[in-house]
Amino acid sequence: MTQRQILVTAALPYANGPIHIGHLVEYVQTDIWVRFQKLRGHRCIYICADDTHGTAIMISAKEQGVSEEQYIERMHAEHQRDFAGFDIQFDNYGSTHSQENRQLCEQFWASIRKAGLVKEENIEQLYDPQAETFLADRFVRGTCPKCHATDQPGDNCSVCGHHYSPTELIDPISKISGATPQVRQAPHLFIQLRQLHEFLDEWTQGGDHLQPEVANYLKGHFLHEPLRDWDISRPAPYFGFEIPDSPGNYWYVWFDAPIGYMASTRQWCDAHGEDFADWWQNEQTEVHHFIGKDIQYFHCLFWPAMLKTAGFNLPTKIHIHGFLTVGGAKMSKSTGTFVMAATYLKHLDPAYLRYYYASKLTPRVDDLDLNLDELVTKVNADLVGKVVNLASRTAKFVAGSGLSAAYPDDKGLFQYAAGKGEEIAEAYEQCDYNRAMRLVMELADRANPYVEAAEPWKLAKDPDRAAQLQDVCTVALNLFRQLAIYLAPVLPRLASQTGDLLGQPIRHWNESRSPLVACQVNKFQHMMKRVEPKQVQAMIEQSKETAASGPVGSFPDSGDPLAAEPLAPEITFEDFVKVDLRVARVVAAESVPDARKLLKLTLSLGGDERRTVFAGIKSAYAPEDLVGRLVVCAANLAPRKMKFGVSQGMVIASGSGGKEVFLLSPDEGALPGQRVH
Ligand code: MSP
Ligand code: ZN
Repeated sequence: MTQRQILVTAALPYANGPIHIGHLVEYVQTDIWVRFQKLRGHRCIYICADDTHGTAIMISAKEQGVSEEQYIERMHAEHQRDFAGFDIQFDNYGSTHSQENRQLCEQFWASIRKAGLVKEENIEQLYDPQAETFLADRFVRGTCPKCHATDQPGDNCSVCGHHYSPTELIDPISKISGATPQVRQAPHLFIQLRQLHEFLDEWTQGGDHLQPEVANYLKGHFLHEPLRDWDISRPAPYFGFEIPDSPGNYWYVWFDAPIGYMASTRQWCDAHGEDFADWWQNEQTEVHHFIGKDIQYFHCLFWPAMLKTAGFNLPTKIHIHGFLTVGGAKMSKSTGTFVMAATYLKHLDPAYLRYYYASKLTPRVDDLDLNLDELVTKVNADLVGKVVNLASRTAKFVAGSGLSAAYPDDKGLFQYAAGKGEEIAEAYEQCDYNRAMRLVMELADRANPYVEAAEPWKLAKDPDRAAQLQDVCTVALNLFRQLAIYLAPVLPRLASQTGDLLGQPIRHWNESRSPLVACQVNKFQHMMKRVEPKQVQAMIEQSKETAASGPVGSFPDSGDPLAAEPLAPEITFEDFVKVDLRVARVVAAESVPDARKLLKLTLSLGGDERRTVFAGIKSAYAPEDLVGRLVVCAANLAPRKMKFGVSQGMVIASGSGGKEVFLLSPDEGALPGQRVH
């Protein structure tokens, strides 16, 4: 067989949230395919990265009070931890916020400019004057211009289905700050895709790059009319890469995201002494993208157009899967079916989900349902009951003697299963894992009756039949190992445990063709537990708790702080309103050189109203981190003369002093000068 060179990618997960079981459909599906190709002896690499740019990430970082860089770094570590927990093994896991990516983006851009595809046009967009940012469609809500339903999203009405531009919304509101957005004009850069229409027609409709239903969808929805220009720039502020020849404008996240596949490949090449062109500018290399149906538009139209223009390999195939539902419904936080990868791993073995997804995945774009009762039944019946059982019921009897010196007569069972190898391989190759799993379980169904009829547990009681016992176990363990090889792409841990048991690691698919003889058998180590429905239940319960503002019991806060400082004597409402608390913005902050604890803050109460306040927060906050943020200030406190000047109020903070000081911040949307009641 000739060795293929295959580059495989899964979509780059957004860095603005954790990995959940919906994502895992894709990363598991892709991991299985890559492991399969490697096991078949091909050169195959699995490339992925975090998708780190765009407005959503700016907002998430802001909410958490960290810089975008800090935020995406944290997510990068979390994502990799979650993927590793599911045995998803990337050859490189990069980031779109990398030097490699910036450089490739510039290279793409130069080619696209040179091809004359770029045009500039002024467009009107909603602008949030308070957050000082243009608003993407999904950050605006308002009243539908057609049916007047209130609280509708920025792009189309959920009541009447009408499509509109966010500037047409009646009474729009920014989801970021709650402010009323303004309509502002800004120049944007567009890629004129229509110039590549003919190429895209050909590429999508022929050559077997896409599943037939995808090709039809693209034809019916996009390619039947002139392709629209693609708006690929966003004005500042935007977290991304600034466009070199258009200062103040940034590439839209969907421009640099797919280029991230290549940037991550380049990192891998640099780390392994490989030639980048050998992977991305080489007709012999296959490029396979795995993605979900929600992003097919970007991958099947824009991306091939970009690759074509810049002179890189076009995808050999884009494999598109459907969406995960749980119990027939969309994943939901309130019912606990929106399960994070990390939560799953606290309760269940990753092998269960890998096997379950494999048993459900087909080459079609259909959605796929996770039925938790079915997961329990399938895993227990198939993996524990039919596969692992073959080894657990026999290995112990030959731990001393090892396998027979010659492979015994097994009535053709091993040969039969070896003969099925190519059919199973073909099912994997076609991403028809459902079929592959059915074929493997059919083999397990032939192996089990052999063991039941031979009754090794009875033979073991009769010393005169030791040779027969050894033969029966030799057959059973070889049939087991064959299944472990066929399942290795799905269940890598089971494959390596099998290697340990028989002292021979599983390295190649073709090892399923010849039985092992005369080899030692190690002590049987536990391989897979039955799933208990109550573990599944516990996972669902925990997913409910972490979602909404869970029950009190799930926030085990200590009682110490309250005990350390008991409540003050009761006051009347009149007493309370004497203190005039105001929202204020820190407009300047400096450290007071001679004071160990003090920072000098200039607070704005809006307009021209300023206050100078000395605050004992030096050990907990750096002055430069405070400038721009909102605080709460006691604004009618009598001025107090201090050694360094007059303090005209107080900023409100909790904590016991030193590094344990926590400034209070109003939620997003509050305005300097507003009273706090
Ligand atoms: N960042 C983009 C992809 C850029 S690729 C150059 C993105 N990220 S995502 O985090 O939203 O999704 C990553 C992948 O997971 C996508 O292929 C998406 O289809 C898939 N899934 C996300 N939720 C899913 C389900 N609930 N079910 C199945 N797949 C899901 O899109
Ligand atoms: Zn409407």
